Amino acid sequence: DPVRVLTNRSSGKQGYALAQAALDLGAQVTLITAPTALTPPTGARRVAVETAKQMLAAVLQESAGSDALIMASAVADFRPKNASRDKLKKADGIPQVELEATEDILKTVAGQRRGEKRPRLVVGFAAESRDLLENAASKLKSKGLDFIAANDISAKDAGFAVETNRVTLLFADGRQEALSLMSKAEVAEVILGRVSKLLE
Ligand code: CTP
Repeated sequence: DPVRVLTNRSSGKQGYALAQAALDLGAQVTLITAPTALTPPTGARRVAVETAKQMLAAVLQESAGSDALIMASAVADFRPKNASRDKLKKADGIPQVELEATEDILKTVAGQRRGEKRPRLVVGFAAESRDLLENAASKLKSKGLDFIAANDISAKDAGFAVETNRVTLLFADGRQEALSLMSKAEVAEVILGRVSKLLE
């Protein structure tokens, strides 16, 4: 309704750090972002979106023909099927909210034929609370990614809204690289380092 929304605990910190790390390497950067409390890095073109549908449209348009798309966004997987135009009143009782699936942005973009609009590299994150590597490997494959950063979001020092992160990178050729606990800025630098190497 006009007052209530469904959202999640992502702060955007890892995504903004990735944009900064790419700028530091001299890349031309477009940062597609949902609302956050963060200051956007200077030098990135910022495209603001509020819904998964808007993010899909922005990502398709902005990533076409680019060198790399890196998706760290915690996109909502479900949205209410019907939003009420008027504020729901408590007096009318507890509402039943029916949900429907949102678009899988990464799968849509990575699934495009290589050599056309598909970015040369498509990189994702896997936010997992259990079976980290198994789930990340299956996302790498099912979404058609070049590599994925597996992120254990049940750890206190990694994942949502903290400054540090611990990820394992899984590559399409089967290689794995476990990174130690580091700042999100450092994680971003490592990921951008791997991206530029693969683009060489
Ligand atoms: N992602 C996306 N579009 C969605 C959901 C996720 O592009 N609708 C992207 C995320 O930005 C991330 C990757 O897919 O890079 C994996 O997201 P994650 O939340 O870990 O997994 P889901 O695909 O949503 O699967 P599940 O919720 O079942 O773990």
